[in-house]
Amino acid sequence: MAREKPVKELEDLPGIGETTAEKLRAAGIDTIDKMATLAPHELSETYGLGLETAKKAVQAAKEATTINYTTGGAILERRQGLGKISTSSKELNELLGGGVETEAITESYGRFASGKTQLGFQITVNTMLPRDKGGLEGNVLFVDTEGTFRPERIETIAAAAGLDPKEALDRIIVVRATTTDQQILTIDRADKLIQEKNIKLIVVDSLMALFRSEFIGRGALGERQQKLNQHIHKLQTLADKFYLAVYITNQVMDNPGILFGDPTTPVGGNVLAHAATTRLYMKKSKEEKRIVRLVDSPAMPEGEAVIKITPNGIRD
Ligand code: GTP
Ligand code: MG
Repeated sequence: MAREKPVKELEDLPGIGETTAEKLRAAGIDTIDKMATLAPHELSETYGLGLETAKKAVQAAKEATTINYTTGGAILERRQGLGKISTSSKELNELLGGGVETEAITESYGRFASGKTQLGFQITVNTMLPRDKGGLEGNVLFVDTEGTFRPERIETIAAAAGLDPKEALDRIIVVRATTTDQQILTIDRADKLIQEKNIKLIVVDSLMALFRSEFIGRGALGERQQKLNQHIHKLQTLADKFYLAVYITNQVMDNPGILFGDPTTPVGGNVLAHAATTRLYMKKSKEEKRIVRLVDSPAMPEGEAVIKITPNGIRD
């Protein structure tokens, strides 16, 4: 028996040729799901299809459309099995509900030397650890947009975590991106790499630096936000698809509109504010101490943790 071609494009539906498909797309009906919601007579009248053809096409679209029903209980069960990457600070892990979450984007923002990159190095190393030691037994894709990746630092942190330093370095795929196009392409083409190399954490340090330097002025803002939106969307898609964690760092700008409290705001605007699942604001305190404030989390209450950047990495 000949196997039927799976229905993916409008053209795969019976009676829908290229011309009709183009017309439908131009009218905004660009997916099988949208076709499935149409009434056959509507399709027939508006696009000049015979009623029988329209009926068959809609029926086929309905059959090809699957809805993923799930229950709250099933989601809870899956979430309880979610991986968390330890930060090596008990206090910060508790603030995060266990650690840096998979299937989510965690953003840290703060001024220079607030510890964003150091936290990125620590979770990079910890991702390699066994699960009972706070890791995911996985490897890391590290996108370095500022030229601040330091292998020597990774070696030190890895040795302190009980890993072989050279082996740890080999488990990190580093991409030094110098343009937003390189940054975007790295993530757009990461699917294969993630599967082949068992990537469990993607770090983008920093997310916004290149976007900020390339898109200057009000006129470029729209395009910047659009590209940024797609980029973040792709990161979230990878996180969901491969059950991995995404850690991005972000810069701050002074917001003169704020008269009371801290006048710093993360850059990236609403696009970023809505995209990051968890936002951490990092602030320098005395000597090696840093204050980490949980600003935005879907499940955890706002709060603060004090961490230290020690020679061996992040600690309480
Ligand atoms: P920007 O990227 O400049 O915005 O800053 P950041 O928030 O990424 O800062 P980063 O994580 O690089 O933190 C820098 C701070 O970490 C330094 O001021 C040091 O206090 C600390 N640090 C960096 N490297 C080492 C190290 O090798 N040993 C120790 N003990 N501390 C370090
Ligand atoms: Mg940094």
